[in-house]
Amino acid sequence: MNGLTANGPTVNGLTACAVAVLTEATPAGKAKRARAMAADWAEGRIDDRGRRVVPPARPARPAKPDLKRPGDMPRRRINRGTAGRFALLHALAHIELNAIDLACDIVARFPEEDLPAAFYDDWLRVAEEEAKHFLLLEERLGELGGRYGDLPAHDGLWQAAEDTAGDLLARLAVVPLVLEARGLDVTPTMIAKLKAVDDHRSAAVLEIIYRDEVGHVAIGKRWFDHLCKRDGSAPRETWQRLVRRHFKGQLKPPFNEDARQRANLPPDFYTALAEL
Ligand SMILES: [Fe+2]
Ligand SMILES: [Fe+2]
Repeated sequence: MNGLTANGPTVNGLTACAVAVLTEATPAGKAKRARAMAADWAEGRIDDRGRRVVPPARPARPAKPDLKRPGDMPRRRINRGTAGRFALLHALAHIELNAIDLACDIVARFPEEDLPAAFYDDWLRVAEEEAKHFLLLEERLGELGGRYGDLPAHDGLWQAAEDTAGDLLARLAVVPLVLEARGLDVTPTMIAKLKAVDDHRSAAVLEIIYRDEVGHVAIGKRWFDHLCKRDGSAPRETWQRLVRRHFKGQLKPPFNEDARQRANLPPDFYTALAEL
């Protein structure tokens, strides 16, 4: 089973296809498999029942980039020089590569939750878009004279996945509704700074990512609300409790209230957890 059977008659199991993405080490291969899986799912070539394949604790990674602690990262100042912008786009590419795996992990990790097909429709769309984001950034790194892997990258992005591997509600509370929502807060400023130094190509890539990520936060919120309704729990109180338990630190203002609202994440959820 390889998860790459676009156009073939074979019906693969959903968890097996998602695990094939997680265990693919090369970034281009991972992105390609994720897109093939999304296409196969949309066209009915993947069965969401059947034999379960358990996802790995950590996804496969390429030999490069070297993974380092956050304090040891290259500076990513946005100016007319190439180095700072390259470092920014490299860091974002690393986030998007992890995001492909996060989407595949949520698809494969929680089959006992007995979720409707619409759950998988949503998260495979996210996986497809994260793969697109990675490839757009990789292309832009190439235009700037390098590639993903040229700089060290942050070794902590999978921590949230490990911390919430046993609890889908906690996964949704933290990954889309804290981490991806944080992306909505900071991306417009990056876009404005890139435009200010006439890097319109990088800005255009970030605009695509920003637009899609509103949808990812919305998908996270939709399924968070779905599970709360199923369990008879109050969404806001439940979210705040799970974030306090699983997310170390406070949420950092200023918040992009407009984009968060478009994702159906209202201020009364997150302002109570903001640092003063
Ligand atoms: Fe993304
Ligand atoms: Fe995303």
